[in-house]
Amino acid sequence: MAHYYQNSDIQDIADVIGDSLALAQKAAKTQADIIVLCGVHFMGETAKILCPDKKVLVPDLNAGCSLADSCPADEFEAFVKQHPGYTVISYVNTYAAVKACTDVVVTSTNAKNIVETFDKDEKIIFGPDKNLGNYINSITGRNMLLWNGACHVHEQFSVEKLLQLKKEYPKAKVLAHPECKSVILKLADVVGSTQALLNFATQSESDVFLVATESGILHEMRKKSPSKTFIPVPPNDSTCACNECNFMRLNTLEKLYDCLKNESNEIHVDEEISKKAVKPILRMLELSK
Ligand code: 13P
Ligand code: SF4
Repeated sequence: MAHYYQNSDIQDIADVIGDSLALAQKAAKTQADIIVLCGVHFMGETAKILCPDKKVLVPDLNAGCSLADSCPADEFEAFVKQHPGYTVISYVNTYAAVKACTDVVVTSTNAKNIVETFDKDEKIIFGPDKNLGNYINSITGRNMLLWNGACHVHEQFSVEKLLQLKKEYPKAKVLAHPECKSVILKLADVVGSTQALLNFATQSESDVFLVATESGILHEMRKKSPSKTFIPVPPNDSTCACNECNFMRLNTLEKLYDCLKNESNEIHVDEEISKKAVKPILRMLELSK
């Protein structure tokens, strides 16, 4: 199973490719005894929590996530305790112990719909991504209390370079992931999860797209629409045109081969934490049917 931010050669040989929600949904359903999750550590943990009896492997166990790291479980738990009476909604990009003190998990695909299942005046803590949280507040009219976390990849997109590209390609549609800063989201024609951006690009009648999310998704966009042009929005302070997640890209085809051959790099989740964390993940899957 591979996330869209994996290297193209891994995406090409995967049995399943998808965004965070699709990977969790497919992991929950698979009959396989072993899942190799080509993504980052929290994705492997989510699969393991959903399938405690299966072996879950990640090709490089050092594939972490700056967003998950921006929300240490002990600090988040203390924050939750300081706010009794609040419902806790956590983005899937969190470690298992954060999910264990969460009421319902969301991904960028289902966050809006799940937040809207709660009354408008429900007191909600949303963590850890402040950009996604701000965006959901703005489109739902909520005032959720936000954890101050962010993804170092999605925060890096350059407004100046995007404005320059818009001048060069005036007819291009701008696609942006909601983990991007609000200045980038304001310039976007479409804001959505990796899957939503892919769907839009595939169905759109436009020919050119400026893509503000991890550039691995361009591989599937180009495969689905070979006649269209997809241009990655560049990050700040870089001569490189692409914005790649260094954690995601730790997984390589060679490491995947070793992992399959040796059944190495197994993910383990503490049993007590897993028992608590599975509830808000299952609640998300139920609300996403
Ligand atoms: P989605 O897969 O939900 O679009 O999330 C993007 C991401 O940053 C995954 O690490
Ligand atoms: Fe985490 Fe950002 Fe990399 Fe996704 S792109 S795994 S949120 S650091």
